[in-house]
This record gives sequence, structure tokens and C-alpha cells, in this order.
Amino acid sequence: MENTRQISEQQLKVIRESVDIVDIISGYIPLVSKGKSFFGVCPFHDDHSPSMSVSREKQIYRCFSCGAGGNVFTFVMNYENINFLDAVKLIAEKAGIPLQLQEYSAPRQKKFETYYEIYDLAHKFYQNNINTAMGKDAKSYLTNRGLGSDVIKEFEIGLSLKNAEMLTKLLQKKEYSAKELVKTGLVNENEKGLHDVFYNRIMFPLWNLEGKVVGFSGRIYQNQDTAKYVNTKETDAFKKGELLYNYHRAKNEARKVGQVIVMEGFMDVIRAYTIGVTNVVATMGTAVTKNQALLLKRMAKEVILCFDGDEAGAKATMACSNELLKIGVTPKIVRLEEQLDPDEYILKYGKNQFCRKLENPIQVMDFKLDYLKQKKDFNNGQDVTVYIRQVLTELEKMDDPVLKELTIQKLSSETHLDPTFLKSQMKKPEDTPVHVEKKEVTTKQNKYQQAEKNLIYYMLISPEVIQLYQKHITYMPTKIYRMLAIQIACYYKDYKFISVADFMTSIQNDETMCNALNEILKLDLKEEYTLEQIMDYIKTIHEYGIQFQCKRFQEMMQTEIDPMKKAEIGQKIIELRKSEMIR
Ligand code: CTP
Ligand code: MN
Repeated sequence: MENTRQISEQQLKVIRESVDIVDIISGYIPLVSKGKSFFGVCPFHDDHSPSMSVSREKQIYRCFSCGAGGNVFTFVMNYENINFLDAVKLIAEKAGIPLQLQEYSAPRQKKFETYYEIYDLAHKFYQNNINTAMGKDAKSYLTNRGLGSDVIKEFEIGLSLKNAEMLTKLLQKKEYSAKELVKTGLVNENEKGLHDVFYNRIMFPLWNLEGKVVGFSGRIYQNQDTAKYVNTKETDAFKKGELLYNYHRAKNEARKVGQVIVMEGFMDVIRAYTIGVTNVVATMGTAVTKNQALLLKRMAKEVILCFDGDEAGAKATMACSNELLKIGVTPKIVRLEEQLDPDEYILKYGKNQFCRKLENPIQVMDFKLDYLKQKKDFNNGQDVTVYIRQVLTELEKMDDPVLKELTIQKLSSETHLDPTFLKSQMKKPEDTPVHVEKKEVTTKQNKYQQAEKNLIYYMLISPEVIQLYQKHITYMPTKIYRMLAIQIACYYKDYKFISVADFMTSIQNDETMCNALNEILKLDLKEEYTLEQIMDYIKTIHEYGIQFQCKRFQEMMQTEIDPMKKAEIGQKIIELRKSEMIR
């Protein structure tokens, strides 16, 4: 619980209570009120209809489709991809509560600690190199590309040296094991021993969503006969498909202007920065994953794709658009002439013309029609047929009815075919049922575990039930529920009140427990309960405990050879059974 220590639970409670979760969440996604709750489209999965409910009363949210859930801190953490403390800070700011965090340092994920340390060291080493005499050529390469010291500093650009042992030696002095070093992707091992993976390359750090260096991309800068870019391999801390280049720097500006611009290369992003376009990220040349699409969806309402002007860029634009359309985002498209990439375009035509292009993006369907029309001869019936089929296939993938209708109109005027006929040629979307609450996929739970869950559910809303638990239950048979119940009781003992939203904060570091809690909250039981009902749960749990112990004794009896001890165990079983009858 390292990171909760910096702020007391009491302070956290004050901060949490100073805002209304409904206000905070509706600052990110539109919510509509329905009955006691508010509903919105869940930002954490590819949701189309509102599956996320937000309770003003309980100050928690949960998605009954993907299972996401938590309090206001969890929402902001997950939405903004920031850590717990940053989420608390952000909410405190919104609430106007001054937070003094001396020596504020973000809690690090322990399991990546070694990676981060090593990347930090390498990062400092590379950055230093470029400012030495050995960095002269690299610097002039960058200057020739119009990237001066300010840009080098801003994007933390560095240099790996010609001597392919320098970094390895430096890291070995810090006593990292060979295994650890090789794991980072910065060091390789061959017959002669360990050596650097990167040498004589301009080094671009790659950051994770929080802005920590988790890898590098190295570019050649002299007439070198090797790959233009080499990247560190994927590790537990660095998955290319889960991050976007420059995300941490771009996200605030993107939110402010309500727009994010996506490019392919990081050189494009860096160039855009030099002309003051800062709401921009890069996919780094790979196909956009669903994960990245979801990130973009959370960055801003409007997503503009500005990929390279060549054929590969057009193809990537198609693929990325589809990934976005699948999750309910309709992107806008900028296409650059003469096969230029954004970097080249800006250099050739300047800031103003590039910004004009950004201000006049085309609709995604217009782009798709243009793309599919390429190299087709409209006097050739065969080509026209293929074109129509392709457009209809694209339409089948989409679910924006207005956009669909508009496209059909366009297609009709292009091909002189009746719109009704065109529509009839579309494959009917499979009969998707009106949104039904997905039943949670749980392993079949018996009535005993159900009783444990129900009891915990009511412990979370009533001190009376906590007291009944303390009085009657000495042992919850299922481990995770046992731990949860103990935590709730401890929480109550410390604070003399119980609130689900605050309790969540106190266990937020324990993923298993959070999951169990979410699962219990999903029960959505009636607020009112009777004493009889609670005692019923308690009785069932006792029964379970006894059976549990009986089973254990029976197993012991089977392995026990000493007849005296066997008899003792038998006696214990009889006593247990008796106690069950008395209750
Ligand atoms: N890329 C890569 N490995 C390569 C080539 C490209 O990882 N061998 C990634 C890089 O992240 C790069 C992006 O794909 O930023 C786009 O590639 P490309 O268009 O070839 O590079 P540019 O952005 O044009 O870079 P430069 O202007 O320096 O040539
Ligand atoms: Mn380029």
C-alpha cells in the first residue's frame, strides 16, 4: 500500500466526497439518467449501447458488459491512464482542495522496476553522448533535418556510440546480471560475451502511457547499410500495440482542443511539434490495434488520421479507420499529395498549408470511396461491379445509420443504380438482440458461496450486518471472501462508518480483491434486508464451514495409519456433525 501512505484514508475520503462521481464521469462521457442510476457508453470496451451505470447514491460505477467498475478514482485512473496518486491529485484540483504532497513521486510498478532503472541509465547515457564531440555528426544530421537543440531536448533524443560495448560496460558496473540486461533488449550475448544492441544510431526514447521510458528506437544517420530503424524488443513493460508515441505529451492538448491527430512515424510527430501542432501521436508504423483505437477514443472526440501520402499510408488509413469504426469512432482523414509523409509535407509546403489540410479533412466514407475507386475503369462493367461490392462490404461493417444512408446516396449517383436496390444487396446484419445484460461468466457457484457473497454485499451497506458477521462468523470458508470480509470489518473498526466507494480506495492495490468486490456489487440486491435473511446467510455459511472441516477430517482419516489417532479424528467428525444439528 505504498501509494496510499502519502495521503491518509481520511484525506482520500474528503477528496472523494467533495466531488460527485456523476459530474466527474459526465465530464468524460455523456450520461443519461434512468431511474436511480445514470447510464453511458462504456469507454473501456467496444461498447455501442450504454452498458455503464453510475450510481449517485453509492458513488460507484460499473459496466455490466465488460465488468469494469470502481469509484471516482478508479474511473479517472483508467480513463486517463494515470496512476492512483495522479488521479487523486486531478480530482483534488477539480474540487479545489489543496493537496500538499512533499517529495511527490509516482509509485512504480514493482515488477518493472529493474527495466525502468536500466532504461533510465541508458537514456541518460544516450542523451549525454549526443552533446559530446562524438555526437557531432549525429547533431549535424538532425540540424540538417531542421531539428535543433530545443527539439533534441524536448524529445529527449540521444545517441548510441560506435563502440558497441559502452552501454554494456556501464550497466555491468551497476551489477545487473547478464540475464537482466539481455531481457531489456539493450544488450545481446554472443560467443564473445555481452555487447550493445544499439551502436552508432540516433536514439529516440519510447514512453509508456505514463511517460516512463520503456524502450528505444534507433535510426541510422550516416550511409549505413542496415535497417533504417531498429527498436528494442517487446518486453513485459513495452508492448508496441498498447501505446502510442507521444501519448503522454499530447493527451492534455488533445482533450483541450477536442481533437487528436494520428500519424505513422515519430519523425512526423516531432516535425508537427516544431510548427506548434502538439495534439499529435504516432502509431510507429504498425497496424493499429484495438487497444490503441480505444486509447484514441478516450483522448478526444475527434480523431484525424494523417498518414503517409503513399499507397502504404492509404492502406494503413483504411485499416485504422475500420478499427475505429468498430468501436464507434468515425475518424476524419487527411491525405497528403505527392506521396509525402507529414514531415516532408511540412518541410516542403510550410506550416500554413499543412494546417489548412488539417482544417479540411475529408469524411471517412469519401476517403474509402476514393480508395476503392483507384485503378478502376468506370466504363468497364466488371470494375463497377467489384467497386459496388467493395463499398457494400465496407457499409456492412459500420453501424452509423446516417453515414450509411449518405454513402448509399453517393454510390447511387456514381453508379446510377437505385438506392433501394443497393440497400437490398447489403448483407443483413446478423440479428443482434436488443441489449441484454450479459450474464457474468462465473464458475458455477454453490449456495454456500452465494451466501458468503450476499452477506458481504450487505456488510458493505450496513454496520449492523458487519456486527452480525463479527459476532457469528469466525471463518468464511472461501479464501477471497474471507479476506474481503475481514477487510470490511477492519475498515469499519477504523472509520466507524462504511461506504463502498471509500472502501474501494482502501483495497485498490489488490486486484483479486477488487475483482471479487466488483463481482459482489453486480448482485444488485435490494437495499432493504431483514434480520432473518442475514441470519439465514450466516447459517448457510456455518453449514459450509462444518462440511468443509468434515471433509478435511475425512481426508486425514484416510491417510492416517495409527488406529488411535484415526479414532480421535472420527470423534471430531461426530462432534462436528452434532454441532450442525444443534444450530
Ligand atoms: N518503423 C520501424 N522500423 C522500420 C521502419 C519504420 O519501427 N524499419 C516505424 C518507426 O516507428 C517509424 C514509423 O515506422 O517512425 C514510420 O516509418 P517511416 O515512414 O519509414 O519512417 P519516417 O517516419 O518517414 O522516418 P524518417 O523520416 O526518419 O525516414
Ligand atoms: Mn519521413
